[in-house]
Amino acid sequence: MIPQEPGEPLRPDVLERIPHGAVLCVVGARPNFMKIAPIMEALGTGPAPVPACLLHTGQHYDAGMKEAFFTQLGIPEPDVDLGVGSGSHAVQTAEIMRRFEPVVDALRPGALLVVGDVNSTIACGLVAAKKGVPVIHVEAGLRSFDRAMPEEVNRVLTDQISDLLFTTEASARANLTREGIDPARIHFVGNVMIDTLRRHLERAVPAADTLEGWGAPGLDGARGPHYAVLTLHRPSNVDDSGTLERLVAAVTEISREIPVVFPVHPRTAGALARAGLDRRLGAEPGVRVLPPVGYLEMLGLMAGARMVLTDSGGMQEETTALGIPCITIRENTERPITVEEGTNTVVGTDRERILAVVRDILSTGGKGGRVPQLWDGRAAHRICEVLAAWMTARRGAPAGGL
Ligand code: UD1
Repeated sequence: MIPQEPGEPLRPDVLERIPHGAVLCVVGARPNFMKIAPIMEALGTGPAPVPACLLHTGQHYDAGMKEAFFTQLGIPEPDVDLGVGSGSHAVQTAEIMRRFEPVVDALRPGALLVVGDVNSTIACGLVAAKKGVPVIHVEAGLRSFDRAMPEEVNRVLTDQISDLLFTTEASARANLTREGIDPARIHFVGNVMIDTLRRHLERAVPAADTLEGWGAPGLDGARGPHYAVLTLHRPSNVDDSGTLERLVAAVTEISREIPVVFPVHPRTAGALARAGLDRRLGAEPGVRVLPPVGYLEMLGLMAGARMVLTDSGGMQEETTALGIPCITIRENTERPITVEEGTNTVVGTDRERILAVVRDILSTGGKGGRVPQLWDGRAAHRICEVLAAWMTARRGAPAGGL
């Protein structure tokens, strides 16, 4: 799909293909793709199919951050691509809004469906809400209570302008009602990201193949694969060179006890290069630095790992679903169920604390856990059931109702 030029009217073939009143689904950044995949499928194939179309804002655009996911997850080619690319928060959010508005005017969707907490989520939500298009938020109500996180601002604001809110864990309802959201709008449906994980687990690429593919040596120990997976991309961890250097020192130390496989996010690659830390990490024999990997590769890496160290939200949930110990390199989590019931331990960025939990996992196997309620692969179906009934009720309701 050729990205839409700013101000360019929607092409007639696009307009013709999209049914009037369709649900306009939005994706923008990598973690949105695995959430939208089961929703698009369920909307099209459920007992009461809901007409839907897909828009990509273009927030993430590199092949490794986008294409691999669309192909592997069977996500249909977006009907519209806004092609916004990168920028500061203000520039990126404003540019998405500017390019999205004429699309909403042309399509007049029946509703807007957004997922997660990225800039694309709030930008499109805000445009739709001001045009009277109902907003549906999937993964509503998660709270880190840390307003220094850009995602927390996006979450709180998106929930405030949403008409239907679908939640992944019980804490979310309490957060939303505390913020004055009408409980009748909140539906606990489970976790669409885990729908995708369960659907694709059998096709996950074995870790050894991924490492070989990138020319990194295998990590097979006498008792099977023996490695930790690391990802880092939160601005609070990577944008400040002092914090990043501290984390690199901790990773180096960990890699002397267990090999560390590190697929590097573009934000982090830039930060490592600016701080001159990329060469240092590359020279460490126990660290395998990889570019961003596809979904099936990441799933295989996580499923075969002794532990995962991360600051990603989604990976905290995926490791809980897989039963793999997770060390979260952040001061807080908006996904408390992964700590209360799952395999997650939130450790912050202190080197000693990180190393203590790594050593505990190496000696005892680490924290066990159970899969949270409704993380059963059926979340998207529940969403579609609620959505179909809600749309039918809206059509029958007087103007301004529901
Ligand atoms: C965004 C989300 C974050 C999510 C993450 C997953 C917001 C506020 N943040 O953060 O919640 O966890 O995606 O990856 O929406 N870049 C590329 N190629 C790309 C995309 C980005 O090189 O395809 C580089 C650019 O230098 C860009 C930087 O990565 O400036 C950051 O991208 P951006 O979309 O602004 O934020 P993320 O850190 O990816």
